[in-house]
Amino acid sequence: PVLVVDFGAQYAQLIARRVREAKVYSEIVPHTASVEAIAARRPAAIILSGGPQSVYADGAPQVDPRLFELGVPVFGICYGFQAMAASLGGEVSQTGLSEFGRTPTTVTQRGVLLHNLPDSFSTWMSHGDAVKVAPDGFTVLAHTAGAPVAAFEDAERRLAGVQWHPEVLHSQHGQQVIAQFLYDVAGLEPNWTAANIVEEAVAAIRAEVGDAKVLCALSGGVDSAVAAALVHKAIGDQLTCAFVDHGLLRKGEREQVRDDFVRITGINLVVADAEEQFLTALAGVSEPETKRKIIGREFIRVFEQTVREIDDAEDIQFLVQGTLYPDVVESGGGEGAANIKSHHNVGGLPDDLQFTLIEPLRTLFKDEVRAVGEELGLPHEMVWRHPFPGPGLGIRIVGEVTRERLDLLREADAIAREELAASGHEQDVWQFPVVLLADVRSVGVQGDGRTYGHPIVLRPVSSEDAMTADWSRLPYELLEKISTRITNEVREVNRVVLDITSKPPGTIEWE
Ligand code: XMP
Repeated sequence: PVLVVDFGAQYAQLIARRVREAKVYSEIVPHTASVEAIAARRPAAIILSGGPQSVYADGAPQVDPRLFELGVPVFGICYGFQAMAASLGGEVSQTGLSEFGRTPTTVTQRGVLLHNLPDSFSTWMSHGDAVKVAPDGFTVLAHTAGAPVAAFEDAERRLAGVQWHPEVLHSQHGQQVIAQFLYDVAGLEPNWTAANIVEEAVAAIRAEVGDAKVLCALSGGVDSAVAAALVHKAIGDQLTCAFVDHGLLRKGEREQVRDDFVRITGINLVVADAEEQFLTALAGVSEPETKRKIIGREFIRVFEQTVREIDDAEDIQFLVQGTLYPDVVESGGGEGAANIKSHHNVGGLPDDLQFTLIEPLRTLFKDEVRAVGEELGLPHEMVWRHPFPGPGLGIRIVGEVTRERLDLLREADAIAREELAASGHEQDVWQFPVVLLADVRSVGVQGDGRTYGHPIVLRPVSSEDAMTADWSRLPYELLEKISTRITNEVREVNRVVLDITSKPPGTIEWE
């Protein structure tokens, strides 16, 4: 792999993603990893990421000079660039001019790293210190007002670096600079493709599972679907999938899992029809957290029962989880943490069944999971689905959850999704909750008569990670179409309103 050494800023994951976008496999290692540990991973190249500190601050992480003697190509970015310069005998200090944000950058010599780039372009900077003198043997390629050495390379030793952040979209030609380091300075081949990912994952799953039996819980979401399809490709009928239909699903979702997914993959699927059980448990309940608790509790009960009914359930040794690489990195487990012999982080499993977790997506980013899903031929709507909460439509009805209300909401939600997809704006929004205000009544006039129905709220949001969000500025024509169709086609709904609150202060969901 290309190893991205994380100096503690937010950029390491982004760099790793950009490297993979250039079709080169990359992983993140902490800056505390020793040169020996890094060498043992046999990296194809090393990238030193940005970091929040000054190279000369007390306790600031340094780069061991022996790293540059491994014969492995190294690319320094921002802090990593300065640490590289300092480690190799260059001079780093304050120039008195800090640069933050868009910065005009002048190329003085293109070298290998910057070939094909224009004489000047704009880069995204975030630095107080700067490299004043490049280390011996390095050619200075660019400068800015605050950085006399903004890029350098020693093409012979395959070492290079830039002061700016090529991984952020605000840096012009950023992806090109990363790709040119990988292909031209480091001499790597772009061969990390969805087909290769599938091939490697299949081999790894076979090696791990042998002829044991495996269970997978399908949620209808993209991660569990892709994980299941990958495992199935590897071990076929040794895999059984379980899917709980709690009656709180969106229109067509159950059919998509039960029919399309099974038809395409040929997976053994057990479906638990539990609508009645969930609706009975939810009767009379309006308070959102109580709803969540009930849904969670019933889910565990149903799932446990379903697993027990699978033939040879006691032979199942592995449980598939759709854990993604960002979760692995964020929980500090980047160093190939061992599988956990436990079911405690997997709600809903019988106590007397012990599983080893198998996580076929744990090295992948979300966009790669989608590419793998496409490669495996899963339905487009499944692969590109927006995130959907576990409690489903149960927390999108403000008020008591009943079958009638679920049916109304399912219709309205389906119309919004259909029109959004038809408009081509689906990937501009992170999520598009449609909420039924069942406890609110609004007066309307339809035909000759006065109506007394319920409002529907449209809540399209744009976001990176759901931690913060903004309301999506969808075109009025699209909103109008959705509104007209919902009020015409959905009984009891005589009003459609748009939620224009960011998060914070609003959350994405209404409950
Ligand atoms: P909020 O409403 O907190 O939502 O802004 C942030 C993200 O989390 C999802 N969400 C849930 N997902 N169970 C889930 O699995 C839940 O109870 C739940 N509540 C919110 C929400 O859809 C959004 O993506």
